[in-house]
Amino acid sequence: MRRDPLAYLTVELSTLKEQGLYRKLRILEDEQKPKTTFDHRAVVNLSSNNYLGLTTHPRLRERALEATRKYGVGTGSVRTIAGTMDIHMELERRLAEFKKTEAVVVFQSGFAANAGTVSAVLGKDDVVVSDELNHASIIDGCRLSRAAIKVFPHKDVGAARKILQTLPAAQRKLLITDGVFSMDGDLGPLPALCDLAEEFGCIMMVDDAHASGVFGQNGRGTIDHFAAHGRVDIQVGTLSKAIGVLGGYVAGSRALIEFLYHRARPFLFSTSHPPAVAAACIAALDVLLEEPHIVDRLWENTRFFQSGLKTLGFNTGASEGPITPVIVGDGALAMKLSDRLFEAGVFAQGIASPTVAVGKARVRTIVTATHTRDELQFALDAFGHVGRELGIIH
Ligand SMILES: Cc1ncc(COP(=O)(O)O)c(C=O)c1O
Repeated sequence: MRRDPLAYLTVELSTLKEQGLYRKLRILEDEQKPKTTFDHRAVVNLSSNNYLGLTTHPRLRERALEATRKYGVGTGSVRTIAGTMDIHMELERRLAEFKKTEAVVVFQSGFAANAGTVSAVLGKDDVVVSDELNHASIIDGCRLSRAAIKVFPHKDVGAARKILQTLPAAQRKLLITDGVFSMDGDLGPLPALCDLAEEFGCIMMVDDAHASGVFGQNGRGTIDHFAAHGRVDIQVGTLSKAIGVLGGYVAGSRALIEFLYHRARPFLFSTSHPPAVAAACIAALDVLLEEPHIVDRLWENTRFFQSGLKTLGFNTGASEGPITPVIVGDGALAMKLSDRLFEAGVFAQGIASPTVAVGKARVRTIVTATHTRDELQFALDAFGHVGRELGIIH
């Protein structure tokens, strides 16, 4: 009988089970909403990135249906062959206007946007200077580029400067940070990093995946929040989180975007978005511009929920926005807290190593604009009760 060459995977899975870190996928049986059904249980949902509730917004739904009727369900090609529809170009024009940049190119996901862009703009003789907590898609993009990777401690601008001082002036350098860090909810120190980029002649890049639709005027992101327009050469945003649909984009100069058309591998070698995706994203931009009270509501809910968790005595880290970690340290304890909350009717995902550092395991919560006060209070009561039961708070 043939020996299973993948047997080692089963061994690794058993190890995860022994460590209490094995995760089963939770199955959503309804719409992505603040109160919904996962695994046959009605729960208050604190685990989605659906910040503004746009996954189910009637304007997006309607535009997606209209586009499907008009264009069909798929594009049948990559963008660079036959898969660029007028609706893709309209979305890119609208995003560029929104982001106040010359041009935008849309990718299939935020992951593809980061990985495809970093690997396209850099090569083996170049160097990336990167925050240690930058997203996995940035890290993969850096690896794919074969550039040297220099990592600075989280938000430590002084350490980034020391690294830059050691590099030859003529070497091409990319300084890169998340706008909002996805596991902690804190902001990258953009103004200080832009100063450094200008002083040392770096390309400045910001991944604003969790900031788009959340920070800045009408949700324009952290570049707008920090009034740093014109100081960031490459802005990445996502259409999968607050925008409620799917995709990622790069905003910058016309030359950058045209270069990516020619060199970004996910753009060149992977089929373009279905027309319904592009149409729904355009509708989402209309909502951001015409219904700004939704963003205000997100911030009201964030303040209410975060101060509730703090009053209960939880460690919520350094969050500055709707992503609020409840840091417990031990991986197995984070998973237990998440499981017990789920039984109590609250879905908040446990997150452990390797997604976060060992000893920094947590349950990550994200409130949305569409949570009601009652739902958030219900979740706080559950956190209080389960947190005391597990000895995390007293
Ligand atoms: C900071 C950050 N960048 C990029 C991405 C990737 O975005 P997408 O889900 O659109 O691929 C994510 C999502 O997980 C993220 O948190």
